[in-house]
Amino acid sequence: MKFFVDTAEIDAIAELNDLGMVDGVTTNPSLILKSGRDILEVTKEICDLVDGPVSAEVVALESDAMIAEGRKLAEIADNITIKLPLTWDGLKACKVLSGDGHMINVTLCFSANQALLAAKAGATFISPFIGRLDDIHIDGLELIEDIRTIYDNYGFETEILAASIRSVNHVQDCARIGADVITAPPDVIKKLASHPLTNAGLEQFMKDWAKTGQKIL
Ligand code: E4P
Repeated sequence: MKFFVDTAEIDAIAELNDLGMVDGVTTNPSLILKSGRDILEVTKEICDLVDGPVSAEVVALESDAMIAEGRKLAEIADNITIKLPLTWDGLKACKVLSGDGHMINVTLCFSANQALLAAKAGATFISPFIGRLDDIHIDGLELIEDIRTIYDNYGFETEILAASIRSVNHVQDCARIGADVITAPPDVIKKLASHPLTNAGLEQFMKDWAKTGQKIL
């Protein structure tokens, strides 16, 4: 399973990238706001840092304007993935821009039927938002399972990019279900390394080691 980092914070991306944990990056207008940076500048910096796909989102709502914005974003770097919302206009833009050879991430997906449409429109990635579904008491993981089944039934190559990941359990469940990619905030990815028994075991080893009076270096 690929790990994308869901942030526009350069330092956080760089830290995970140095460890080989970054297969791509996703951004959205809220994350650009949080970064306090200019979208074109910060996206270029991310693209220079990371080899994999970097999603940059259009903000137009009508298909022709989405296509124009998407083409401008795609000029930033070869690894740009144009992020389009799952609306009828977004699907029209997806069809045109994927036909031009651009990578497309269709975002704000909340149903399996929406995911089916995105695959038929040529999306490279579909982003079901599992955390936001959980927020309204709908099982986001069930949506990932349904999309997995439908895509496998018909051999769609669109990758399932599980988004709106809020916890380490989300990551593990998405891996078990067979999501192709997860995109998660840096702190969630770092938390995957934590386990209380690891900490307790290490503490005991350190105490016992101190009692030996030995040194390795
Ligand atoms: C994905 O591409 C989105 O940027 C993101 O995962 C949304 O997450 P949120 O629901 O935590 O804002």
